[in-house]
Amino acid sequence: MKILHVVGARPNFMKLAPCHRALAAVSGVEQLVVHTGQHYDDAMSDSFFRDLEIPRPDINLGVGSASHAAQTARIMERFEPAVLEHRPDWVLVYGDVNSTVAAALVCSKIAVRLAHVEAGLRSGDRSMPEEINRLVTDRLADLLLTPSRDADDNLRREGVDPGRIEFVGNVMVDTLLHGLQRARHQSMREQLGVQEHEYALVTIHRPSNVDEPARLTAVMGALGSVALEMPVVFPIHPRTRQRLMHRDLEALGDVRLLDPLPYHAMLDLVAGARVVITDSGGLQEETTALGIPCLTVRENTERPVTVTEGTNRLAPDPDELARLAISARPNGAARRPEGWDGKAAERIALSLAARG
Ligand code: UD1
Repeated sequence: MKILHVVGARPNFMKLAPCHRALAAVSGVEQLVVHTGQHYDDAMSDSFFRDLEIPRPDINLGVGSASHAAQTARIMERFEPAVLEHRPDWVLVYGDVNSTVAAALVCSKIAVRLAHVEAGLRSGDRSMPEEINRLVTDRLADLLLTPSRDADDNLRREGVDPGRIEFVGNVMVDTLLHGLQRARHQSMREQLGVQEHEYALVTIHRPSNVDEPARLTAVMGALGSVALEMPVVFPIHPRTRQRLMHRDLEALGDVRLLDPLPYHAMLDLVAGARVVITDSGGLQEETTALGIPCLTVRENTERPVTVTEGTNRLAPDPDELARLAISARPNGAARRPEGWDGKAAERIALSLAARG
C-alpha cells in the first residue's frame, strides 16, 4: 500500500510525525512525504522535521507565502503532477491549513482516495480561513479520522455517511506523550531565568488578533498588564512580528520576546507554565493534555472538549484576559479526553491497513 502524506505548515508536522512512525511499522506500506512549502523558515519548518525525527520530505513544492487564493492555487497546480506520477492508494492530509484543502481538492478531482486526519472540528465561525478549509476538506474526504466525539457529531449533523467517519483520537497528544521526557531535558526555564509554574507563556498569530492594529494593541496591552505580575515568555510567529509596531512593543513592558521555538523546547515551556495565553489550536489541546490552564484569545473554539473536559477557557476580551491570567494556577493532574492516549496514530495505521 502506498501512502502519500501532504504537509505544509507548522501544526501539520506534529501530526505527521506519529502517523509516519505508526505506518512505518506496518509491513508492505510505502510512504512518501510532500511538503507544500507553505511554511519555509527553518524555525517554522525544518526544525520540526529534525526535532521530531521525521524523514526529509520526498518532494517540496516550494509554494511560499501568498494570498489565500494564490497559495491554494499554486499548491494545487504543483501537487497534481506529483499525485499523478506516484498514484498513491491513499493521500493523508492534516488539520485545517491551506495545504490541507488544496491537496483535498486535487485528490477529489482525480479520484485518489483521501483521508483527513483531525476531521470534524468546527468553530462555527466562517470568518476564520481554517473553518472554510475544514468544511471543504471534510466534504471531499473518503475517510474522516476524528480526534474527539464532538467531531463525529458535527459530521453526522452535516449528513456525512457514518461509514466514512472513524473516531481515532488525537495525534497531537501522541506526539506530546512521545516527546515529554525529551522536552523536560531542554532546560528552557534555566535559559530564560524563569521558575516552574511562575510565568505566562504566550502565542498570538491569528489574523483576527494581529491584522487589525487596534485589536493587536489591545491584546498587547493585556499582556503588558500580565507582565506586571509575572514573567511573560512570548515566542513570536512571523505574521505577528511583521505587524507589531513600536507602540505595541512599549505596551508589552518586560516581556521576553523569542523567535518561534522548536517543538521540544516549546513543550518544555508549556509543561512548566503557570498559564498559557494563546489563539493557537494545538496549544489548547496540549495544555489540556498537561493540565496547564489555558486562556484562548478568541470568541469561539473548534476544540470544545478542551473547555468542557480540559483546562481551556475562552477569553476574547483583553481586560478579562489579563484578570483571568493573573488569577490562574495549575491545579493538579490532567484529565485527558477519550482517545487522547498516545495511540491515535496506531489506530489510523490499522484503519488504513484494513481498508488497503
Ligand atoms: C498558517 C495557517 C494557520 C496556522 C498557522 C500556524 C492557513 C490558512 N493558516 O497561518 O491555520 O495556525 O499557519 O503557524 O493555512 N511567514 C514567514 N515564514 C514562514 C511562513 C510564513 O515569514 O515560514 C510569514 C509570511 O510573511 C506570511 C505570513 O507569515 O505571509 C503568514 O503565513 P501563512 O502561511 O500565510 O499563514 P499563517 O499565519 O502562518
